[in-house]
Amino acid sequence: MSEDVILKSKENAARRALEFVKEGMIIGVGSGSTVRLFIELLSKEFDGVDLTFVAASYDSELNLIKQGFRLLPLYEVEKIDIAIDGADEVDPKGNLIKGGGAALTREKIIDYFAEKYCIIVDSTKLVSRLFQKHPIPLEVLPESWTFVKNFLETNLRGDAKLREAVRKNGPVITDNGNFILDFHVNPNVEKPPELLEEYLNSIPGVIENGIFARRKPFKIIVGYPNRVEVLDM
Ligand code: A5P
Repeated sequence: MSEDVILKSKENAARRALEFVKEGMIIGVGSGSTVRLFIELLSKEFDGVDLTFVAASYDSELNLIKQGFRLLPLYEVEKIDIAIDGADEVDPKGNLIKGGGAALTREKIIDYFAEKYCIIVDSTKLVSRLFQKHPIPLEVLPESWTFVKNFLETNLRGDAKLREAVRKNGPVITDNGNFILDFHVNPNVEKPPELLEEYLNSIPGVIENGIFARRKPFKIIVGYPNRVEVLDM
């Protein structure tokens, strides 16, 4: 699929998610290019409407500020009415891999604590099984990264790589000041996503991992160039 077609598909998914936005809501937004389109569309359709936002990354925060939206830190709100987020992989049961943009920790806080969350993706994100196309991103405390890498490779026999930055020397530093390990799962040692999500977070030094399986989105909006499909979970 060409970049233009993918962009159109993302835009269609983002546009459909506008129907869940209502005046007075506190809205959590994730991160990534599809969320960016959602914020742009919101600014056109909801100009002057009373909305409050919490965001999962500096990128989303800056985009919300640019559009003139009211933004609060996460600890300033008592609830999140709905969260809208993207994903890197979506399986038929609504399990996700996220964290391609290194924003997984705050995304999971927002998506899991929100009353409900909705995923917006283009159709290239649909997979029959997770972990075949993308590694699992893990946000790790910088001091711990070699221990976590060795632990993963010894116990799960996969391959864990420190994510390198582009246009900066050295590793990617997350918005929270940590490193990212991209863990390529060994298909022979695969666990169900819910169990793997829990297991990875039990490793000392791991702050969060990019499997979103323990809490499912209430809707997954899949964008195609000329239509959308809304999956109820
Ligand atoms: C950010 O860390 C990710 O979880 C994004 O939600 C994911 O990478 C989707 O990004 P795009 O909308 O750019 O495809």
